[in-house]
Amino acid sequence: MNIAIDGPSGAGKSTIAKLLAKELGFIYVDTGAMYRAMAVYFLENGIDASDEEKIISACEYADVTICYENGEQQVILNGKNVNKDIRREDVGIMTSKTSVYPKVREKMTLLQHKLAEASDVVMDGRDIGTCVLPGAEVKIYLDASPMTRAKRRFDQLKEKNVSCDFEEVLKDIEDRDYRDMHRDISPLKQAEDAVFVDSSEMSIDEVVETIYKICQEKK
Ligand code: DC
Repeated sequence: MNIAIDGPSGAGKSTIAKLLAKELGFIYVDTGAMYRAMAVYFLENGIDASDEEKIISACEYADVTICYENGEQQVILNGKNVNKDIRREDVGIMTSKTSVYPKVREKMTLLQHKLAEASDVVMDGRDIGTCVLPGAEVKIYLDASPMTRAKRRFDQLKEKNVSCDFEEVLKDIEDRDYRDMHRDISPLKQAEDAVFVDSSEMSIDEVVETIYKICQEKK
């Protein structure tokens, strides 16, 4: 059984998907983390986000794999664990710009298919229900208002002692939404058969409970 959770940045996908996977005994696959690992490679090699030719050739040299340590997904880039690097703001922005390229998506989608074939998965991302796992038994589109998502991101950054400006965080979220929703290939959109869940006014437990019930009905 596969569960696809799509939605914009900051909607709570990874928190919810992780808890849901634990409750169901499934593997959690964070596909954003894979695209982020590719972006780390592009940044480390000084490749400009607009240089598609260089990005295409770099795809040959960036080996991204996934493993699990105490149930937590670890992303390995060319043998090095990059779990910490992928959460940087510059990496997030680079990821949104470079995940538009067909070559990058082709490489990541192949890896995602392999993971879903090997286990029951809860997979989150932007195109899981629409492109990667169109046959997923449960599809969720998890959303929240841009203000709510910016506030969550702002609080997370403050907790990490990263200096930031709320208006800038909000603008980053809006720009990222625009890029993710308007790219030519696999744009972020709700699959026709996905259930829409708005987490703006819901607690984490309420969202997990709502999706868990949907999964039980499909089992
Ligand atoms: O979910 P996230 O914030 O870690 O995702 C980072 C970026 O990766 C996001 O801007 C869009 C891209 N992404 C994608 O294009 N397709 C996916 N399945 C997952 C993420």
